[in-house]
Amino acid sequence: MKHLLTLADLTKEELYDLLDLADQLKKEVKEGVFTPYLKNKVLGMIFTKSSTRTRVSFEVGMKQLGGQGIYLNANDMQLGRGEPIKDTARVLSRYLDGIMIRTYKQSDLEELAEYGSIPIINGLTDYVHPCQVLADLQTIREHKGKLEGLKMCFIGAGNNMANSLINGGILAGMEVACACPLEYLPDEKIVERAKATGRFILTQDVLEAAKDADVLVTDVWASMGEEGEAETRKKIFGGKYQINDAVMEVAKPDAMVQHCLPAHREEEITEKVFEAHADEIFDEAENRLHAQKAVLVRLLGE
Ligand code: CP
Ligand code: NVA
Repeated sequence: MKHLLTLADLTKEELYDLLDLADQLKKEVKEGVFTPYLKNKVLGMIFTKSSTRTRVSFEVGMKQLGGQGIYLNANDMQLGRGEPIKDTARVLSRYLDGIMIRTYKQSDLEELAEYGSIPIINGLTDYVHPCQVLADLQTIREHKGKLEGLKMCFIGAGNNMANSLINGGILAGMEVACACPLEYLPDEKIVERAKATGRFILTQDVLEAAKDADVLVTDVWASMGEEGEAETRKKIFGGKYQINDAVMEVAKPDAMVQHCLPAHREEEITEKVFEAHADEIFDEAENRLHAQKAVLVRLLGE
């Protein structure tokens, strides 16, 4: 593992190694043990979109590991004035030990990885959100004791979260069911790969997807950069692509709920279901820290 651009690049062993390490690092922190696995290492954190969890958890994670994170707003960098990514990659590789980037195009990350000589970590693109799904898988395993054989259902837009949940869920050995409207399906190649395993379905029938699910996941209908489509999307998703009582009713009685946050009450999830599962959802938010520390240790560590 040289970079974390998408979970599709990982082997099953690499995935479980990261989850095991994330659990170990979480335990250490809870016991007050802060081992400096990344002493004096510096992570550049480039953002061209907003963030609460990703920014804070990466910065705190680097600090807890004995290193440092530097927040870089892309608009304040020469990158924002047109300096090529391939030059930025070669310059930053001379100063930093790794780059975490949140941006629009997945190809920008691929270019950073190609021209730079340090690990590149995907902090969300329009295509995937791998760090989030590592935290989701860690949380699900904590609550359910395993991942293999569980049914995970995603309801909503076929966006970065849907794509990473399919990649990660299938790799972990789960059954994955997605309910997405025809207008907003997940990535075609990701869907084809998942279908080939025989453990994936894609449907417009929300209750079919949710039936007997162990885990229900949803996300905002209009992602960052899609705000202009919010009203159109409300008409397509509204009253249908939502985690609510009817959906919980057909899932397993002990089904858990995950949401990467921020959440939009009465849109993709009802206030009632959100609050009933708030502990699981905020465990998921916490696990961003632990899961990302595992990624940092594996990629930036000796
Ligand atoms: N879930 C997530 O990535 O949150 P932020 O946008 O706050 O980083
Ligand atoms: N799909 C959402 C996730 C936010 C963490 C977005 O890209 O805005």
